[in-house]
Amino acid sequence: MDDLSLAWTSFDRERHLPLLLEADEAEEHIRGYLDRGQLFEIRDADAVIGVAVLVDDGDAVEIWNIALSEERRGRGSGRRAIELIAERCRQEGAARLTVGTSDCSLGTIAFYRKVGFRFAGVRKGYFDGYPVSVVENGIRARDMVMFDMELG
Ligand SMILES: CC(C)(COP(=O)(O)OP(=O)(O)OC[C@H]1O[C@@H](n2cnc3c(N)ncnc32)[C@H](O)[C@@H]1OP(=O)(O)O)[C@@H](O)C(=O)NCCC(=O)NCCS
Repeated sequence: MDDLSLAWTSFDRERHLPLLLEADEAEEHIRGYLDRGQLFEIRDADAVIGVAVLVDDGDAVEIWNIALSEERRGRGSGRRAIELIAERCRQEGAARLTVGTSDCSLGTIAFYRKVGFRFAGVRKGYFDGYPVSVVENGIRARDMVMFDMELG
């Protein structure tokens, strides 16, 4: 199995933006949470295979972006990356890990449920004012579906 790790890093447009855009098509939105959060590279030994952006929110940490390079998906690395993020947040004293995705991202919803998140609510109308129109599975995104995981 892959030897995955998380490494805090500063933002490098050329290195990180293409991956960040895989999870969020709105670059101006990405800029906003990069300013408030911490960017991590998901590494397999020395190779960067993905990124995650974590933002503190009271006693919780929210994953604002997580993406693996296309050729690394579907092999358990996403599950392992969530475990590493949860471990890190737990060690730093967070009580919960939260994440949201659009109401049309049916595969991503399945992923979060499979790796241990539970449904935690809806941010109604979140995508109505979004800078880009998000469409997946033939559905236009309207609401953000929230998930959380207790870290206790
Ligand atoms: C979402 C993402 C991080 C998942 O990582 P991954 O390595 O592909 O997922 P894993 O292989 O670890 O899958 C873990 C489990 O979730 C399931 N799963 C993953 N993607 C799924 C999908 N699209 N539909 C249904 N189930 C899915 C897997 O089948 C697996 O289940 P199992 O353990 O029962 O076999 C990755 O696909 C990705 O980077 N996608 C593009 C960016 C993105 O959409 N990010 C999320 C934005 S909110």
